Amino acid sequence: MTVEEFLQYVQPYYVKFAAPDLADRGRLAPHARSGKPRSIDKGKFFMQPKVITESRWKIAQNVEKNYWARVKCDPQEYLRIIHEKYVFLNKINSNCPEVLNPPNGRPGQALEIGIGSLGIGVLSLLDSPSWELTGIDPQPQIQPDGIPSHLQALHQELMKKPLEYIQRPAENLGLESSSYDLAACYNVLDHTHNPYAILQEIYRVLRPGGYFLLGLDALCLLNWMRFKAFIDDPPHPYKFTPWHVERLLPNQGFKVLI
Ligand SMILES: C[S@@+](CC[C@H](N)C(=O)[O-])C[C@H]1O[C@@H](n2cnc3c(N)ncnc32)[C@H](O)[C@@H]1O
Repeated sequence: MTVEEFLQYVQPYYVKFAAPDLADRGRLAPHARSGKPRSIDKGKFFMQPKVITESRWKIAQNVEKNYWARVKCDPQEYLRIIHEKYVFLNKINSNCPEVLNPPNGRPGQALEIGIGSLGIGVLSLLDSPSWELTGIDPQPQIQPDGIPSHLQALHQELMKKPLEYIQRPAENLGLESSSYDLAACYNVLDHTHNPYAILQEIYRVLRPGGYFLLGLDALCLLNWMRFKAFIDDPPHPYKFTPWHVERLLPNQGFKVLI
């Protein structure tokens, strides 16, 4: 299935979440330590049933590898993924601009989960130079050499914000707890090995009062059932409906703000 075909089925689902205060964190801690999904995610028909196998995730990663090799040579797809990030960020900006302001008196620490091999995430587009950006992705960062010359200037502009690119799956971030002010995960969770563990990790590394921006392609119930029953979709080991997301996030300790 091509990206274009998949996009016919999905509605981008944009929400913003805040990490609750420390008092709430105790409840999540045992789950964070065990790394297992909470029992509420198991066995219920409409919840995601279980964590996929490593080999299933590797199939998805193989698709990613080919996708990123193609994107840098495909101006239309390159511009599409930049444009959708601007639209996403604008939505946050018009609903709650304060989220995108760095903290007073020190550089803000921003973390993009599944930033993609280009190294351009939603948070690369933040206006303020006071954000310091870390990006995580299991795929290696690609060099911009194949990018068509008419996009080179745009690419350089987008890469202006210094980025620490860490090549690693986000199920185990290996980053200090309570060290980030803002995290984003855009079009990633349904591509991962264990979205529950990733959400727990994001929760752990956010400072109390920090914000989490989530962008996710969600399917309506009918399409979700179609996919589950009939459609083999290598890049997306997981499928979410808005119903899933509304329940999944509070289960992992987040409070939904918009
Ligand atoms: C559809 S791409 C989106 C990339 C980027 N967020 C964007 O919108 O351009 C999904 C990304 O999720 C990454 N990914 C898959 N599994 C992951 C994991 N376990 N941890 C972090 N990132 C993962 C993939 O390697 C891929 O780069």
